[in-house]
Amino acid sequence: MATVTLNGLSLARVRPSDEETIRKWCELRCAVVLADWPDDPPPCWVHERGCFEHPWPGEIGTAWLARLAGSVVGGCLLSLPTFDNQHNAGGEILVAPKHRRLGIGRALLVHLRAEAIQQSRVRLVVWAEQPLDPAAPDPVGHFATVSRAVPALVNTRRRLDVDSVDPTVLARLDAQARAKSRDYSLVQWVGSTPQRWLDDIAYLTGRMSTDAPLDDLQWDPEVYDAARMQARDASCLARGLHMVSTAAVDSTGQLVAFTQIVGYATSSWFAGQWDTIVAPEHRGHRLGTLVKVANLHHARAERPELRVIDTCNADSNPYMVRINEAMGFRPHRRTTDWQLDL
Ligand SMILES: CC(C)(COP(=O)(O)OP(=O)(O)OC[C@H]1O[C@@H](n2cnc3c(N)ncnc32)[C@H](O)[C@@H]1OP(=O)(O)O)[C@@H](O)C(=O)NCCC(=O)NCCS
Repeated sequence: MATVTLNGLSLARVRPSDEETIRKWCELRCAVVLADWPDDPPPCWVHERGCFEHPWPGEIGTAWLARLAGSVVGGCLLSLPTFDNQHNAGGEILVAPKHRRLGIGRALLVHLRAEAIQQSRVRLVVWAEQPLDPAAPDPVGHFATVSRAVPALVNTRRRLDVDSVDPTVLARLDAQARAKSRDYSLVQWVGSTPQRWLDDIAYLTGRMSTDAPLDDLQWDPEVYDAARMQARDASCLARGLHMVSTAAVDSTGQLVAFTQIVGYATSSWFAGQWDTIVAPEHRGHRLGTLVKVANLHHARAERPELRVIDTCNADSNPYMVRINEAMGFRPHRRTTDWQLDL
């Protein structure tokens, strides 16, 4: 196992074949979530292990565990896009709750920077969760600011309490949307994208990287084709993800809008809202509302135990935020894409 030593910390790479070390990585993540965000589900082992065994197509991910006197005290992850964004890197730093404010986060950032620079990357982007209340403790915000990262894209995570959704509100939203979208029909599926929709879904997924606001985030358009979509779906399934999708098809038979809700193999009471997008020339027909309301019903039918759905939107995305608020999603946390020029 390749090990480097930094300020007394020993950093060892987590190998995809080393299940014991991946378990330690998962335990670290569980400890962090339990301490920082106890109302989130604990990280799912099937997913954590799957991330190592089944990487995203177009991304090389490398993780290191940091030990002090043999005990795990933290870890970090570097993600290198390979199909697009070849100057950018994604990063993640985790410090075990009992070992914070000891300089471990700082040491892990030094390591990530060095690795990213070695791979010819010019910026590091780190997605971080922060409390909604500006007066609440915000270690991430302090850490990122002293590290000279800038909050390039500020998002709000909204949470839907599924049991408190008012069915009459959903029915009204659905009726209003249907009145404006009579020339479209809906298709739904669970799991991988059906073969016949792969090209259309690939086009729309690529547009997510250009059409959703990026604010000051310097992220290049992502390039998707049917093969990348198929490989991405295969990674999701191998990670135990449960994907529920609804799409709108126009009168020519082209799929022009879609949305997806994704749950884990464990904690099936919880799911995340993934992409929602309407092709530019089809906006203004309430297709966003139409597919989202239909997909909520679809997800509940597929997983009756579903209780909570989270969604993250840029604060500069009023169209998407308005739909989510109308459905009953409410602000829960801030999430920020911090950008660090290397
Ligand atoms: C953010 C995090 C990585 C910081 O790790 P850490 O080992 O505690 O950080 P360090 O000890 O290296 O702190 C470096 C500096 O950051 C600032 N800082 C870190 N935590 C802080 C806090 N709770 N309050 C105020 N400032 C803080 C301080 O300026 C600190 O320097 P100082 O201790 O000399 O004053 C850690 O809190 C963590 O793992 N959080 C959960 C995971 C996460 O959200 N990661 C970030 C996104 S990937």
